[in-house]
Amino acid sequence: MRGKKEKCFQRGEITPFIVMEILERAKELERQGRDIVHMEIGESDLPPSPRVLEKIEEVKHQANRYTHSLGIFELREAIAHYYWETYKVDISPDRVIVTTGTSGGFSLIFSALFEVGEKIVFTDPGYPCYKNFAHIYCLEPVSVPIGRYTNYQLTPEMLEDIDLSGFLVTSPSNPVGNIYDRETLKGLAQWAAEKGKIFISDEIYHGLNYSKAVHTALEFSDEAIVVNGFSKYFCMPGFRLGWVIVPKKFVRKLQLVAQNLFISPPTLSQLVAIEALKDKTYLQKVRETFRQRRDYLYSELRKLFDIEVPPEGAFYIWANIERYSNDSFKFAFRMLEEAGVAITPGVDFGKNNTNLYVRFAYTSSLERLKEGVERIKSFLSKF
Ligand SMILES: Cc1ncc(COP(=O)(O)O)c(C=O)c1O
Repeated sequence: MRGKKEKCFQRGEITPFIVMEILERAKELERQGRDIVHMEIGESDLPPSPRVLEKIEEVKHQANRYTHSLGIFELREAIAHYYWETYKVDISPDRVIVTTGTSGGFSLIFSALFEVGEKIVFTDPGYPCYKNFAHIYCLEPVSVPIGRYTNYQLTPEMLEDIDLSGFLVTSPSNPVGNIYDRETLKGLAQWAAEKGKIFISDEIYHGLNYSKAVHTALEFSDEAIVVNGFSKYFCMPGFRLGWVIVPKKFVRKLQLVAQNLFISPPTLSQLVAIEALKDKTYLQKVRETFRQRRDYLYSELRKLFDIEVPPEGAFYIWANIERYSNDSFKFAFRMLEEAGVAITPGVDFGKNNTNLYVRFAYTSSLERLKEGVERIKSFLSKF
């Protein structure tokens, strides 16, 4: 009992989201009249589909009530259909749970499917909130380093010696922007099914893939847990809407938490989200816009930094800054102060040599990225 209590004191380990600190300083400089190029924010600058905006007008007066705790059934059906159209995977809508962003989804999964003190593996570098979710729900996060030497992918061999209950993989990834090979993802899904481990696949950047196909973990195992949402590809981060797909046996467990923690996901967002799933023409445009930005930024940044894996998806480039600095935090803040370009220091994403890396996000227009690159070039000439 005492051991369990101590595990919960890990809440003291919750770390700040450093990108927010960069953003806040950038905003302060803007208030002082400085022009800042934003390459720090992991949030699409594009609007949602015009069909979403039209639908808001149509349904805004019907949106004041709670919905079913698992989400509006038509939306759950539309999400299931999306898996058929996109991946040819047949999912029953009963297995789809609509959540308050994927962040809400992680809350349901971590609290309902794990016991206090159980180990859950994340990659380092990785999205920083995962380990903080683990702390909040009294789980023990275990970081497995990935890097150039592992092609920035987790494999079953790396998990073999860890007494884990579950693990999580992100593809396309934040912060690296790489995409897991089909065989690696399949290997992980099969390993988890054989060993009875919980495999969570964070697929929130699906759709934002430029040079390689993405595969859902559900292609390889019905036991896999998929997390996805409307914040990235669908350009609706403020709508706070996501979904999880779980084996049927877990639905009720997650529902009990969902009823208590959230009552229901946001109603207006649910009513309009079906339009976002359907508007394929707009989604195509979104992908093309980010592809063009990726092509431009990668071609310029690779002349200035060592970029170990080509950016294949999401909207990030992970760059090694060793030739300029071994302190990514200082480097990023100095770039902000002196060049007026906001980027995210690698240390936001873990401890695995992350002092030697920074993350560039291509979430600003091509014109602004071009301005940013010119400023970065003149900033680096001082080193
Ligand atoms: C990898 C990853 N997963 C999940 C999220 C959370 O997104 P949301 O709660 O908006 O769905 C983010 C946000 O940046 C992310 O980068």
